[in-house]
Amino acid sequence: MKKVFISRRIPEAGILLLKNHFDIDVWDEALPPTYEQLVERARNCDAVVSLLSDKIDRDFFDRCPKVKVIANFAVGYNNIDIIEAKARGVLIGNTPDVLTEATADLAFSLTLACSRKLISASRNAADGQWKTWEPLGFLGQNLRKKTVGIMGIGRIGFEYAKLMKNAFQANIIYTSRSKKEEAENVLGAVRVDINRLASESDVLSIHCPLSDETANLIDIEFFNKMKSSSIIINTARGEIVDQDALYQSLFTGKIFAAGLDVTTPEPLSPEHELFNLENCMILPHIGSATLEARTSMSLICAKNIIAGLEGNPLPYEV
Ligand code: NAP
Ligand code: GLV
Repeated sequence: MKKVFISRRIPEAGILLLKNHFDIDVWDEALPPTYEQLVERARNCDAVVSLLSDKIDRDFFDRCPKVKVIANFAVGYNNIDIIEAKARGVLIGNTPDVLTEATADLAFSLTLACSRKLISASRNAADGQWKTWEPLGFLGQNLRKKTVGIMGIGRIGFEYAKLMKNAFQANIIYTSRSKKEEAENVLGAVRVDINRLASESDVLSIHCPLSDETANLIDIEFFNKMKSSSIIINTARGEIVDQDALYQSLFTGKIFAAGLDVTTPEPLSPEHELFNLENCMILPHIGSATLEARTSMSLICAKNIIAGLEGNPLPYEV
């Protein structure tokens, strides 16, 4: 019987489906396997359900030649060397669509929380600092009719832009490598260059994948072009933002606030200076964390592996 390694406990639906077809080995610890543990457990398997925290590189493929299918339990796949996988004929699957709404909703939540300083206001009340009704306390930003910049208006970027348009009549601008007809026709979105994205966005939300092209794309020059009232939201990948430049920009009031679901590294140490800032809200990478999304992701992973090991095209191949 073919064998599948699942590198963390994922929602049961996908595991049960895989159990009907294969011999299953689940990594059942609270923390993920180390790289060596991952290789050791995957070595004798035909397929792997990997997490975004698992590095699947050339060395992994060298040491696990039996693995023919990898189903990443995520839509992003920057943890996997795709070129190397293709060269070796290893099929790579991911989980698009089913987490689009969950992740867009989280970006929307971060936007509201940052614009109204929800975290620092709540901490202030809990810490006994709430002495009176403050006419000048916790003044936020109104979001209505503002310009929302989307870096990467794909599935999640589009859904987030739609939420901002419907809720706040936002003007949408975006960058991407190709023109996005649907965003332009449905949302009236306008494609701009990166300089205009920086200087015109009242809210800037990042939704492009992490790649050689996007790593550190949001750097100090980008921040220097932003408005002092602007809010930056990152639910894509931490490495797209130069985190030191972000810290400086928040600390000096160059920008108003940041809402981050992703950081470099992950987890971010609680000692990190970003945690000391009242205008920075950090979440532990929970974009797709709804029961519905995660359950669907586990089923897609199972279906990708079943298809791949049975010699059929993956339903969601990268
Ligand atoms: P998607 O549909 O592929 O959208 C990504 C968009 O980024 C595409 O429209 C692409 O368009 C654009 N893009 C690529 N390179 C770009 C660049 N250099 N500058 C500007 N835009 C660029 O992917 P998705 O499903 O929306 O997911 C997006 C990312 O979100 C994932 O890769 C993942 O890293 C992240 N994510 C995070 C969470 C979380 O838990 N926080 C959950 C899900 C996803 P062009 O190719 O035309 O440029
Ligand atoms: C989560 O970050 C994903 O890429 O699905």
